[in-house]
Amino acid sequence: MQANLTLDNPLRVGLSEARTVEPCIVVIFGATGDLTQRKLLPALYSLAADQPPLPNNLMIVGVARRPWTNEQFRKYAEDGIKEHARQPYSEALWETFAQRVSYEQVEFGDTEAFERLGARLNEIDAEHGIGGNRIFYLATAPEYYSTIAANLGKANMVERTVSGPSYCRLVVEKPFGRDQASAAELNGELNKVFKEDQIYRIDHYLGKETVQNILVMRFSNTIFEPIWSADHIDHVQITVAESIGVENRGGYYEESGALRDMVQNHMLQLVTLVAMDQPLSLAANDIRQRKVEVLREIGIMSERDVVNNVVRGQYEAGQVNYQPAIDYRDEQGVSEHSQTETFVALKLAINSQRWAGTPFYLRTGKRLPERVSEIAVKFKRPRFSLFKDLGGDALPSNLLSLRIQPNEGISLRFDVKLPGQTMQLRAMNMDFAYGKFDTTPPEAYERLLLDAMRGDSTLFTRREETEMAWGFVDAIESAWHGGAGANSPLVPYTSGTWGPRKAMELIERDGRSWRRL
Ligand code: BG6
Repeated sequence: MQANLTLDNPLRVGLSEARTVEPCIVVIFGATGDLTQRKLLPALYSLAADQPPLPNNLMIVGVARRPWTNEQFRKYAEDGIKEHARQPYSEALWETFAQRVSYEQVEFGDTEAFERLGARLNEIDAEHGIGGNRIFYLATAPEYYSTIAANLGKANMVERTVSGPSYCRLVVEKPFGRDQASAAELNGELNKVFKEDQIYRIDHYLGKETVQNILVMRFSNTIFEPIWSADHIDHVQITVAESIGVENRGGYYEESGALRDMVQNHMLQLVTLVAMDQPLSLAANDIRQRKVEVLREIGIMSERDVVNNVVRGQYEAGQVNYQPAIDYRDEQGVSEHSQTETFVALKLAINSQRWAGTPFYLRTGKRLPERVSEIAVKFKRPRFSLFKDLGGDALPSNLLSLRIQPNEGISLRFDVKLPGQTMQLRAMNMDFAYGKFDTTPPEAYERLLLDAMRGDSTLFTRREETEMAWGFVDAIESAWHGGAGANSPLVPYTSGTWGPRKAMELIERDGRSWRRL
């Protein structure tokens, strides 16, 4: 007999699906790009197919420079949806969805083209009774962000109001600048046209289910928060490992590297969520306030810290999942003398009463053995060990692991007595896995797009956060490429391994080790 999945599934019972989305036009700049095809359109389709569906008059206008027709763009969308959407492709659903989708060709520097676009949006608005709501999504190459924002302003397409009768919001993809100065400049340019509360800076890690769960786990339970400090936690380690290489993004990646690509945004965001104090409320500004405090406590690394506590690596040819993998320097768009890091491991300190003495170890890289992201919180062993003579001291200490992907879930390791006549101890895991409940978490972009439509900016990064995170990264970049850089050279690692040996030493010299994932 087929089980009733809703009633049998504790993750579904009582689930309220309340979400009010007003009609709006989502305008995607950079519509012919990869992100639009692989993430944005599939996310919008899945939202439209979900229960309750998006309103029928939520329209999508793709904007880019290529002279595409509506039909060409729809085909592009359909291909992306078939391959990448969480909701299965259905012809009937697609037919309805396709009617929402249209395309406009615009040169981003051409002010008149923006005026035409504005007029077209007004027509669509009138035809579908939308009432003026707009979301402008910047998914172009970052050099166009300011130009597009300025032209939206010049063409009078932006109502500078946060609470007016209709809304106008700007969603900005990463990379948001390439250092603190350029991020501040970009913020300045965007703020000329949009108020801070109208700007939604994407960090798609914040849309991931388990990442959102960090706050619930910490602050909705009573059992973790009292021990969430250096008094009880030995260290925290965060791994964001990828098995893919740079794929077809060699050109972008050469200019970026793992530090800018992953640490400045995703990894520092994870650190702030794990380390922050309880926010005053769930309001976006209260949460962001706490995150900024952590970034301030992390501060800026000295050159000496960088030499001692940051390891950078670059992948060489090897094998990943039994498939041959080429050298980074042989990737398309990459210089044969490239000094760009594809791996970073670092140890950072948070200078606060709560965290002094508990290091945070971070590692991320491409061409590692697996795609796996995890936050592991390792607790201390008891100060006095009653079970010392029974091997208690040799057991691994308690560990809370938050698995971000794949197999999202939470696992807690603790010691138990083995059944039998003798007192023998073993460390065991208590596991919670979303996958056991027939629940496929929504894609990060679905959640983020929905939040942008609802006007909830909690899962987006604020101006200060972005600039402070760049400050942290800038200090490392400048030590690498100037100052003491020579003492902190780029180290090669074989594709399919967990990075350079030096990354192991970084943690092992403290008597600790990276988790085997
Ligand atoms: C992006 C980076 O922000 O995150 C990519 O630019 C990286 O280089 C990607 O591959 C990883 O995201 P996810 O969701 O696959 O872990």
